[in-house]
Amino acid sequence: MAHQWRGVIEEYREHLPVSASTPVVTLREGGTPLVSSDVLSEATGCSVFLKFEGANPTGSFKDRGMTLAISKAVEEGSKAVVCASTGNTSASAAAYAGKAGLTCAVLVPAGKIAAGKMAQTLVHGARVLEIDGNFDVALEVARTLAESYPVTLVNSVNPFRIQGQKTAAFEICDALGRAPDYHFTPVGNAGNITSHWLGYAEYAVGGVIGELPVMFGFQAAGAAPIVTGRPVPNPSTIATAIRIGNPASWEAAGKAAADSGGEILAVTDREILRAYRMVARQGLFAELASSASVAGLLQLSAAGRLEAGAVVVCVLTGHGLKEPDWAIAGAGAPPLLPADPAAVAAELGL
Ligand code: F0G
Repeated sequence: MAHQWRGVIEEYREHLPVSASTPVVTLREGGTPLVSSDVLSEATGCSVFLKFEGANPTGSFKDRGMTLAISKAVEEGSKAVVCASTGNTSASAAAYAGKAGLTCAVLVPAGKIAAGKMAQTLVHGARVLEIDGNFDVALEVARTLAESYPVTLVNSVNPFRIQGQKTAAFEICDALGRAPDYHFTPVGNAGNITSHWLGYAEYAVGGVIGELPVMFGFQAAGAAPIVTGRPVPNPSTIATAIRIGNPASWEAAGKAAADSGGEILAVTDREILRAYRMVARQGLFAELASSASVAGLLQLSAAGRLEAGAVVVCVLTGHGLKEPDWAIAGAGAPPLLPADPAAVAAELGL
């Protein structure tokens, strides 16, 4: 029988805080494709790979951290979990809590999460509560709730989330046989870039890789507190997943970028949309927020900051199907034709 990927806990057990008695709650997340991009390589003169995290069971990288957070919650005897979310964490928490038989409550900013993410969260059986405020406000409520009531917080302030998410860096190194020269990722609540840096650093200490990558993180220009140096009270961007004004892992993300010789920078919504369309034309449907990594690559390349031939990985954090609105809005209505092959051929210019 062909080998089936076992999920990140079994594949990377020796690197994770689990023991033989930890009940593993998995949907066989991870093992996502690392796809070379001819178009982006040609545009930048680099050797560009896209890590397609949309291929995870709930369509985003959150599953890597959630398998660990939920497994540890079960190990610790927790009966309920809570998170605040711009949509992907809630979809993932709902799915893994469902698998584990835990109660799951999610707090989302009212009217601000993509339809696909809401559908996932509901269908997996979570209690969805809309909070009158943005993500940062909802996270404050979730944190306080978890401090005062018997419910485990599964946002990325839960250290097990970061531990699980570092496996993306392991997979990249295992696939390339080395670390990339540059690692680009979108930044919202800033847990993911923190976790990737941790993964690379652990592989370096263990001697699996010789060199560390330079880490660049990209916030949306209207939601770029780390770039501007102060919280953004009313963050605004079309990339709703990263519409965050006061990231929980602010310091750790800044340190990851700085220690690696990189930076956290901003990309405009226009740059995000351009990157989104470019990536989609190459066969990978990623979220707007995910496209911030590619927008950042194009920005740095245009500024002449990347040497020719550098090996670059851009993380595409979530699946575009979660928010199809921009794909459809950009395309225009298809022509309506009679059921006649000749008419179809004429329309196609065949
Ligand atoms: N990309 C996507 C698709 C996301 O959903 C998120 C975060 C990020 C990037 C940023 O990652 O927060 O670790 O810096 N989404 C969270 C959520 C906030 O609630 O789903 P980060």
